[in-house]
Amino acid sequence: MTLTYADYLSLDTLLDLQKPRSTPPEHDEMLFIIIHQTYELWFKQLLHEFEKVKRDFSGNDLYGAIHTMKRCRTVMKTLVGQLDILETMTPMSFTSFRDRLETASGFQSVQFREFEYVLGHKRKDMLKYYEAGSPGRALLERRLEERSVMDHFYDFLEARGVEVAQGLRDRARELPTEAHPAVQEGIHRLYFEDPSVGILFELMTDFDEGLMEWRYRHVMMVARTIGEKRGTGGSLGVEFLKRSLFQPAFPDLWAVRHRL
Ligand code: HEM
Repeated sequence: MTLTYADYLSLDTLLDLQKPRSTPPEHDEMLFIIIHQTYELWFKQLLHEFEKVKRDFSGNDLYGAIHTMKRCRTVMKTLVGQLDILETMTPMSFTSFRDRLETASGFQSVQFREFEYVLGHKRKDMLKYYEAGSPGRALLERRLEERSVMDHFYDFLEARGVEVAQGLRDRARELPTEAHPAVQEGIHRLYFEDPSVGILFELMTDFDEGLMEWRYRHVMMVARTIGEKRGTGGSLGVEFLKRSLFQPAFPDLWAVRHRL
């Protein structure tokens, strides 16, 4: 039998995965499910790209890294733009099926937390929201111990003559990225010495700005949809989400900008 479009994409399975829980059916619940599933697919793609960019960095492959970061940046901006669609849902509509979510929350997205950890944004305390012994929790524990994209970026910088402090190299892997003056000196020098490396730095900055934009747009969407209510995941909601605003994944890139 010849392979069809539907076979190749497993469409029968994919299109059977949207299962609204509200009775009588609430029209907007379909959108709510599809948008979250779409995000999870893009998270999967980004995690796939991050493995590639790690190899690019450690192999000192500048053009490979530029190509990968360009794709990551473009996906990230798409993730931000998609929030517009969910903002067409009114608070009243969301309230009509919110109870059906019970304690389910984006908080429990394993891929989002992997995404943070792989980048180097290692908030270990977030592990407690994933059930001990579950496959998701085990995956995150492994991710915490892995070298982050930032660690591989240090390899790239070193290959280009930047002295990455031994202290940064020897830190426990579960710790979040720490901005460092020597790394910043190297980035600053490379911006002027090698404009093609500067293109990579700009793409990484675009990506990072996109991630911060997503956090901001998400918290504003939450504010307009549930106001001061607590989250279904049990956090304070908006107050909790505000704490991760303006925290870049690549702080060294931001720290040099006033000198460029
Ligand atoms: C009406 C729509 C939405 C509302 C009201 C909402 C609400 C919230 C709230 C209140 C939290 C804090 C945790 C909690 O207590 O539950 C949260 C976290 C989160 N949400 Fe949403 N959310 C919405 C849509 C989305 C969408 C479309 C995504 C896409 C994946 C998403 C992903 C996340 C993630 C990843 C977190 C964890 C953030 C972190 O730990 O920094 N949310 N959300």
